[in-house]
This record gives sequence, C-alpha cells and structure tokens, in this order.
Amino acid sequence: MSTTLSKLAQTIGDSPTLKINAAARALKASGEPVIHLGGGEPTYPAPQAAVEAIIEKAKSRKIKYSPSSGTPAMKKAVLVYTEKFYNRRFEPSNVLISAGAKQALFNFLLAAVTQGDEVIFAAPYWVSYPEMVKMAGGTPVIVKPHKGLQVEARQILEAVTPRTKAILLNSPCNPSGQIYSNEFIKTVVEFAEKNDIFLVMDDIYHQLVFDGNKTPNPCAYAKEGKNMVIINGVSKLYGLTGLRIGWAVCAREDLIAAMGRMQAQSTSCNSDLSETAATAALLGDQSCVADLCHILEDNRNTLLEEVEKIPHVKVQKPMGTFYCFVDFSYYNASSAELAQYLLEKALVAVVPGIAFGADGYLRISFCADKASIIEGVRRIRWALDKTAPRELKIGDKIITRD
Ligand SMILES: Cc1ncc(COP(=O)(O)O)c(C=O)c1O
Repeated sequence: MSTTLSKLAQTIGDSPTLKINAAARALKASGEPVIHLGGGEPTYPAPQAAVEAIIEKAKSRKIKYSPSSGTPAMKKAVLVYTEKFYNRRFEPSNVLISAGAKQALFNFLLAAVTQGDEVIFAAPYWVSYPEMVKMAGGTPVIVKPHKGLQVEARQILEAVTPRTKAILLNSPCNPSGQIYSNEFIKTVVEFAEKNDIFLVMDDIYHQLVFDGNKTPNPCAYAKEGKNMVIINGVSKLYGLTGLRIGWAVCAREDLIAAMGRMQAQSTSCNSDLSETAATAALLGDQSCVADLCHILEDNRNTLLEEVEKIPHVKVQKPMGTFYCFVDFSYYNASSAELAQYLLEKALVAVVPGIAFGADGYLRISFCADKASIIEGVRRIRWALDKTAPRELKIGDKIITRD
C-alpha cells in the first residue's frame, strides 16, 4: 500500500500563466504597484445581454443541473454561429458545450487519443497543449519554425507518422498573434482529410483580428470535413472568461458523443447560469466584438511603439489575439530568469517564452489598459538599460535595479 501520488500527477506541471498571475496577484495584494502584462483576459465588461440573462435566470430560483452536453438553446446558438462564420450547417448532435474551450479540447483528447498516439502542434504553442496531450496518454509532437514565429505547412506534414492521431492548429495563435495563410490552412485541411487524421482548429481568437485581417475558414477546404473539430468559446470573444463556457463542433457524431461521455462522467454538466448567459451573449448585439477589436488594435499599436524603443529586441507584429511575443534573447537567453527579474525589479508581470516552447522570448499581453501598457514597457526598458539611473520613481515608491 502506498499514498504516493499518481505517475500522472508527478509528470504534469503547473500552468505557467496561472502561476505568474498568482505571483503578480500576491505582490499586488501586499501593496506593490505591479503592472500585469501577463494576463489572458480582456478587461472589457460583460455584454449587457449576458448580464441580464444571468440575473433573470437567478431570479427564477431554478439553478439546477442542465443537460450534460449543453442546453438545446446554447447548441442552437452555436449552430447559428458556426453557419455564419464557417458557412457549414451542422445538427445539435454535432455540438458539445463544455466548461470552456479548454474542457472541450480536453474532452476531444480523452475521446480520441490512445496511449502513445501522437498529437502534432506548432511552437510557439499555447502553454496547456503539451500537458493536456500527456494527460490523455498521448505524445506531443512539437514542430518548431525554421525562422520567425510561424512553421510552414510542409513541416507539419513531415511530422506525421503512422501514430499521428491529430493535428492541432491555433490561428490566430496564442502567444504569437500570427494568423496562418489560406494556403497553409488549405494544405493541412486537405492532407488531414485525405489521411484520416483529426484536425483540431482551436479558434478561440478567430474574431479578434486587426488591420482587416481574416482568419481562413478551414471548412472552405474540406470536402466532408468529418475529421475536423472546431473549438471555440465565449471567454476571449466577449471577455466572459469567468463563465467557463466553450464548445466543440464536429461532423462525426460518434466523436461528439464520446466527448460527451467524458464530460458526463467527470463534470456532469455545465453551469446552467453560465450557459444561459453565454447563449444570450451569442444571440445578442455583436457590436461589442468589433469594439473590442478596435480597443485591442489600438493597444497593440501602443505596445509596438513602446517595445520598439527597447534596443536589441525583435518583434513581429501580432495580426490578432492580445499577445505580442517578443524576442529578448539579447538580454537573457533564459526567459524564466528574465521574467522573474522583471517581476522582482520592475514589478511587471510577463510570461516567459519557455512556457510556450520558445525560450528567449517574453509574452506581453495588450489586453490591459493603455496606461498600464505604456508604464509596463517603460519599466521593462529601464530594467534592461544598464546606462539608466539605478532608481526609478513609481508614484511615491522608488524601485531599484541591480
Ligand atoms: C489558445 C487557447 N485555447 C484555449 C483557451 C481556453 O479558453 P477557455 O477560457 O474557453 O477555456 C485559451 C485560453 O487562454 C487559449 O489561449
């Protein structure tokens, strides 16, 4: 007999983003003037329709278990959304509503991956992909770009082996903000369909794009698209991270049903309140999405202007999301050390690139307010400039560099 933790528990690491959030929060709580540029949620207030729906539902005093795979109303809202953005019609049996895009993705991995199966994705990647694949018993296969922040489609195809179960794409990408080209998406969609490999589109940022950019529609290149799983949610689109509602859409009903079983046997169902609010957000006035994009585009421009004042850094303009992935390797090849230094000395929270599979980089979020972005980057510049005065005044506090 033994109370040792499971092998899985011993191999799965903390989420670096949640860890940095916690460290920044603790410093702030102790009264330190921390600037938080590490976060992954827009500060945008919840859409009015979602707030009203949640109040009305709460007033009914009927807050119960909901249908395990999602309410009919929420599924219908997702079907309308999918037809609008992907130009494909699906049925309710093709939709699973989950506690966030993260759970939708996890359900997919549990339903599709058998021990030793490979799941391919590109670096830099969202921090959770490798750990989630491992939790499902799979092997993450990471494809690194030859240059810049984007891999070529050819590299993804070359990584495929007889053990490949799925290819996972995220466009625009957290952390790089880059969007795959039409040609890239076409090549991967056609290849995956022809070779019977699941293609998972993590489209959580697909509407958060700038400069008139558009995220390619993968369905446009799929004949039947049976192997394609589209993942999305309300977290980033409406700043409704706290609802924990996301979804998966797939033409393969057996896959959706299997994902539903994973969910039913783990969390039973989603929060009834949250699904009601998410449904209202999807059906309500969508001008908040365009407003959010304008704010984010403006923030992105401000961030770029400020970052470009830091000598020796390399930056590629984000085309979407609310992250900028900046190469700081000139200052320190260890992004973890650099992020820790910036938090301690400049009281600025950013996420080390190593967490995204690209050391030497830092992910700087631009979903904070503009003043914080300007002040945060000013402090980073000061902390890295050995010729600057050792002390910097922040309000009535003075911070000192090494
Ligand atoms: C690429 C990517 N996919 C999925 C998620 C999960 O989103 P949700 O809040 O819907 O679980 C995130 C959240 O940061 C993300 O960045």
